[in-house]
Amino acid sequence: MSITKTVVVHSIKQEAKDVISLDLRPCNEDSLPSFNAGAHIDLHLSNGMIRSYSLANSPKEHNRYLIGVLRDPSSRGGSLHVHDTVREGDTLEIGLPRNNFPLVEDAPHTVFVVGGIGVTPLLSMMHRLRQLERSFEVMYFCRSRESAAFLDKIRQFQVKTHLHFDDEAKGPPDLKRLLGECAGGPSNHYYACGPAPMLDAFVEVCRDLGYANAHIERFAAVKSDAPDLAEQQTYKVDLLRSGQTLTVDAGRKLIDVLVEAKVDIGFSCKEGVCGACEVEVLEGTPDHRDSIYSPDEHAANRTMMVCVSGCKSPRLVLNL
Ligand code: FES
Repeated sequence: MSITKTVVVHSIKQEAKDVISLDLRPCNEDSLPSFNAGAHIDLHLSNGMIRSYSLANSPKEHNRYLIGVLRDPSSRGGSLHVHDTVREGDTLEIGLPRNNFPLVEDAPHTVFVVGGIGVTPLLSMMHRLRQLERSFEVMYFCRSRESAAFLDKIRQFQVKTHLHFDDEAKGPPDLKRLLGECAGGPSNHYYACGPAPMLDAFVEVCRDLGYANAHIERFAAVKSDAPDLAEQQTYKVDLLRSGQTLTVDAGRKLIDVLVEAKVDIGFSCKEGVCGACEVEVLEGTPDHRDSIYSPDEHAANRTMMVCVSGCKSPRLVLNL
C-alpha cells in the first residue's frame, strides 16, 4: 500500500492556454518531504483516479510542491477532473515524491529540450542547476506562444533559450540541426520531456549524433509491437517476503494475479510510466513492458514494473 499525505491547494494559477499550476502546501506541518529534481507525485483524485504530475519548483523549497496540469480532452480524464473540480483551499491526497528521471548534477553543460507541458520536470532541474551554478541552455518547443507554460520562469534564468512555436514556424522544429549545433556535443547531458513523437525523434537524433548522455521521461506508454502478455505461457511467481507462490496461467496478467492474492503493492498509472509498482527481481527473466527504463536497464533485470510486465522464464522470484 502506498503512503499518502494530505496537502492543501494553496493557489491555482493560469500558466498558459489550457495549463494551470497548483501550488500545494502542507496542512499542519511546516514542510513537505524533500525531493530531487525530476521527481513526480501522484494525485489521488476524488473520482478515484490516481495521476502522476512532475514537480516543477526548486527542490530547495521544502514548503510546497508546484505542479502543472494541461487540460487534455484526449487523456483518460485525470487532467479534466483537476481543471474542472479542484479549487483553491481544497485538500488533496498525494503520494510521496518518486524519481524516475534523475539529474546528473556535475555535467559540464546541460541542454533541456522542452515539449509543451513536458516543461515541468525540466524546470525543476533548471532550478537545481542554477542553485549549483552549473551551465545549461533550453530549447522550448510548443504548438503556440499562448500554450507555452512557465516561459516567464525560464526567462528569469537568463540562459541561452531557443524558442520554437509550430504555428509561427509553420511546422515542427529541426531537432537534428538544433542538437547538432550544440557546443559541447557529446560531452553535454541532454534531457527531453514532452509528447511521444518529439521524444522518439530526440532519441533517434541523439543516437545518430553519438550523444550517449541523453535522458527522457515519458508521460504516456510507448506502443509495443511485442506479442500480448496474455499470450505467454504459464509461470510461477515466488514472493520472498510473504512466502506465497502464485501461478500466472497463460492468458492472465501478473498484475491481476497479484491483486487477486491481495499482495501489498502500490499502483498508480498502471501503464508502466510512473514507477509506483517497481519491484526487485531476485530470480527469473521478466518480460519488461514499461516505458521508463532503457534497454540496458531492462537487460539488467534488477527490477520490474509489475503493472504491465510479464515473465519469459518458467519462474520469477520477487522481493515482495
Ligand atoms: S503503476 Fe505506474 S509503472 Fe506500474
